[in-house]
Amino acid sequence: MEVIIVDSPEQVANRAARMVSEFIQKKSNAVLGLATGSTPIALYRELIAAHQCGETSFRGVTSFNLDEYIGLAPENSQSYRYFMEEHLFSHVDIAAKNTFLPSCKRDDNPRKVGRAYEEKILASGGIDLQILGIGSNGHIGFNEPSSSLASRTRVKTLTRETVDANSRLFDDGDFQPHLAMTMGIATILEARHILLLATGENKAAAIRDAIEGPLCAHCPASALQMHRRAVMVLDRAAASALEETDYYQWVESQHVSLVEEYGHYYDL
Ligand code: GLP
Repeated sequence: MEVIIVDSPEQVANRAARMVSEFIQKKSNAVLGLATGSTPIALYRELIAAHQCGETSFRGVTSFNLDEYIGLAPENSQSYRYFMEEHLFSHVDIAAKNTFLPSCKRDDNPRKVGRAYEEKILASGGIDLQILGIGSNGHIGFNEPSSSLASRTRVKTLTRETVDANSRLFDDGDFQPHLAMTMGIATILEARHILLLATGENKAAAIRDAIEGPLCAHCPASALQMHRRAVMVLDRAAASALEETDYYQWVESQHVSLVEEYGHYYDL
C-alpha cells in the first residue's frame, strides 16, 4: 500500500486529479470505478477543469459507480446518479451510455441486478482504476463493518452511523433510504489500481485501522491491504492517527525521485 500525506484537502484533490488525468491520458479507453460522497467532489472539480483546458478527455472512458441507494429514482436529487451528473458527467465529454451505476428499482430482483452489474464490469474488461472514499466507520462503497471480504455486488443495510453521517445531505422530510446496492469488497479488490482519498480528522481512526490495523471485516477498508496497487492520498488530519508517518513520507520522497527518473506513475 502506498500512503501519500499532503497538507490540505485541496492538495488531496489536486494530487488525485493529476493521477487520474495521467491515467486517462495513457489509457484513453480506461474503465474507471467512481465514488460519491463529499470527498471526491473536489477531485471531480479538478478533472472538469483539466477537461475544460483540453488536457483530459473522457470520450473513451467507461465508468462504474460503487453504489446507489435503493428507492431513489435517478432524477431524485439525492440519488448517486444525480450526484454524478451534477459533479462530473454533465461537465465532461464522457458518453452517457458508458456510465453505469448499480441501480435497483423497487420491483427489480436485487440478486439479478447485482449479478448483471458484475457481468457488465467483466464485459467492459474490468475496472482499471477504482476511486474510493472511506466512511468514518471504515466502510468502502456501502460495505459496512462485518461485510464479507469476499462479497460481490449486492444489497446492504446501512448502519445507523452511516445513515446519520449522510443525513446532512438530505433535507428535513426527505425520504432517506437505509438500503443500497453496492459493489462488494471482492469486486473492489479486482480493480487493477485503487486510489482512496480521505480528508478530515473524523476519518483518522478509520484510516489508521485500514492501513495499520489487522485485516478484518470490522474495518472493510483494511481489505485494501490485500491489493497490490492501492494508493491512499490523505490530508494531515486524516493521517493524524497513523504510527508510521515518517516511513510513509520517506517512501514517498524516494518514489518521487523514481517517477522523476522514469517519468511515469502507473504501470498499466
Ligand atoms: C458514502 C459512500 C462512500 C463514501 C462515504 C464517505 O457512504 N457510499 O462511497 O466513501 O459516503 O463520504 P464522505 O466523503 O462524504 O465522507
